[in-house]
Amino acid sequence: MSISETLSLRPARLGDLEDIVAITIAATAGQALISFNFPHRLEFPQDYYYHWKTLIKASFYDPNSIVLVVEKVSGDGRKVIAWVEWEWKGKDPAPHPPYCNSWTKAIGARLFTIQTNIIKSFWTRHDDNPKNRSTWIVTKSRIDREYWSSQSRLIYLSALYTQPEFQGQGSGTLLKNWGLALAKQHHTVLGVIASHPPSVVIYKHWGFEEVEVVRMQQEGEPEYVDIHVLRHGPPDN
Ligand SMILES: CC(C)(COP(=O)(O)OP(=O)(O)OC[C@H]1O[C@@H](n2cnc3c(N)ncnc32)[C@H](O)[C@@H]1OP(=O)(O)O)[C@@H](O)C(=O)NCCC(=O)NCCS
Repeated sequence: MSISETLSLRPARLGDLEDIVAITIAATAGQALISFNFPHRLEFPQDYYYHWKTLIKASFYDPNSIVLVVEKVSGDGRKVIAWVEWEWKGKDPAPHPPYCNSWTKAIGARLFTIQTNIIKSFWTRHDDNPKNRSTWIVTKSRIDREYWSSQSRLIYLSALYTQPEFQGQGSGTLLKNWGLALAKQHHTVLGVIASHPPSVVIYKHWGFEEVEVVRMQQEGEPEYVDIHVLRHGPPDN
């Protein structure tokens, strides 16, 4: 990166949603977990796009979540190149529910839920493998119960993606350090699950420790995905 280019971190706005979805689709292209859950995504790109858009938009309205973006600032302007979702989990309520605290957001959240439920009741998606996706949902819920929700308090890294051509330039570190600082402030642990081997390497490089590897595989099928459960901390203050 040249000296005239800098990275800047800020809370995401709904206007960033299209960029965030595009980054997510580009950053996960070809990953084994994506092929496992969405084998028909290339034939049905609109279904796949809608899946990500509704999933990510819901995070904006979740009072226990915060979505942040990194912008690359250069002579050409500002461009969103990476994003993260940090989520409070555990039995204790979040000390400061981050950003969904205004009445306009509360109304927006309600309208979004109603609209999504109506669309989904008419929509038959074609991009996924329902059996594999249900295995993924069950696996994720089991990990959540066992490692995250059972804690008194934990900060969970739900999503972290950098646009491929901008990877290795420090955006991921910036977004990770924001969560680490929050964990330090509240003396709590960070949790994440990851399946993409290079990302698992990066998490370990950042000090996350592996606590379990869960294999998802249907009986008689050669295809499988290993889900790595990783934890960081508690931080020493
Ligand atoms: C994981 C991810 C978010 C990291 O983002 P990033 O913007 O590339 O992160 P950084 O540039 O801060 O790099 C993080 C570290 O990994 C290293 N790294 C990043 N890309 C690398 C690459 N292609 N080869 C080798 N090392 C690499 C960096 O050198 C850095 O190490 P350092 O702290 O010693 O300098 C990004 O690789 C990504 O989007 N991966 C695909 C999506 C994904 O699997 N996300 C995780 C979902 S759980």
